[in-house]
Amino acid sequence: MTKNPFEQAEEIAVKLAAELPTNADQLEQFRITYLGSKNIIKALFGEIKNVENERKKEFGQVLNDLKLKAETLYEGFKEQLDANKDDQQALNFDVTAPSKPTNVGSRHPISILLNRIINIFERIGFVVAEEREIETDWYNFTAMNTPDDHPARDMQDTFYLKDSTEYLLRTHTSSVQARIMTTQKPPIRIIAPGRVYRNETISARSHCQFHQVEGLYIDKGVSFADLKQTLLYFAREMYGKDTQIRLRPSFFPFTEPSAEMDVYWGLKNEDDYRITKGTGWLEILGCGMVDPNVLSNCGIDPDVYTGFAFGMGIERQAMLQYKITDIRQFFENDVRFLRQFKGAI
Ligand code: DAH
Repeated sequence: MTKNPFEQAEEIAVKLAAELPTNADQLEQFRITYLGSKNIIKALFGEIKNVENERKKEFGQVLNDLKLKAETLYEGFKEQLDANKDDQQALNFDVTAPSKPTNVGSRHPISILLNRIINIFERIGFVVAEEREIETDWYNFTAMNTPDDHPARDMQDTFYLKDSTEYLLRTHTSSVQARIMTTQKPPIRIIAPGRVYRNETISARSHCQFHQVEGLYIDKGVSFADLKQTLLYFAREMYGKDTQIRLRPSFFPFTEPSAEMDVYWGLKNEDDYRITKGTGWLEILGCGMVDPNVLSNCGIDPDVYTGFAFGMGIERQAMLQYKITDIRQFFENDVRFLRQFKGAI
């Protein structure tokens, strides 16, 4: 005897509850069976005519519930299988496979040297101060005790901004001294790396842009001995632990007294003679005790505070270090030149 429509619906409900498709094929089979155009629930709607009148509505409700159940289950299964697929893909990923080679660049030799110098001074408490390259005449010259008629101000040497007598491209990092002294209170202990500009003819030996590192230390009781000891420490970290230095009297408007520091390079071969002009000594930097005028220009009382300052060029040191004979190579971004510094930090 055939089952009555309610029994048939119950049978489908039981079958539906037991379904658990585990792959795409089985899911598709599920869809065709319960939701497809010839699905078994739909087929049961045809049985309504065999249900006694007072239960037709109830039967319709049962079928609708079944249909809804099948739809909900289908969505759930589908979601689960999609998620599994992602997991599977992740499992298929071979974490031991060598990665595709990435082309890492190389540091610019100037950056390598700047970082080394910064690192040496950071170890004795100097902090990096970076400032603007477009400066005003005041910070670059006036504050630094450089009189109006000083030749360095000459239009020939300084790049002024178009139609300006005030704005210029800084000619040295000494302008950072004034920036820091007018905004910070002593004790001040800064190291200022950066690019500077001068209106010079470009050749193998000189360029209109180059890099400097400025140092400034201001506190109560800072002496020339402190300056000398700091520079000796730097020279030995930079050029080797037995490096000898000498300080020659010199002149800078912003320091008094002023000096230039040489390191002993040696005279072992012909190159050394050429590089040191036969003396064995190499000029590395300018330095001195901060001129009291500079302190007062920047709002620091010279009766209370003293300080020392120094400034060095980077390109020449880099040329010696890496045996580079033409300064222009630093600014041409020729990858064949730059690649030689791969791996250096
Ligand atoms: N600013 C100088 C230059 O560009 C270098 C210099 C000399 C800086 C003496 C200093 C210093 O701080 O004390 O040639």
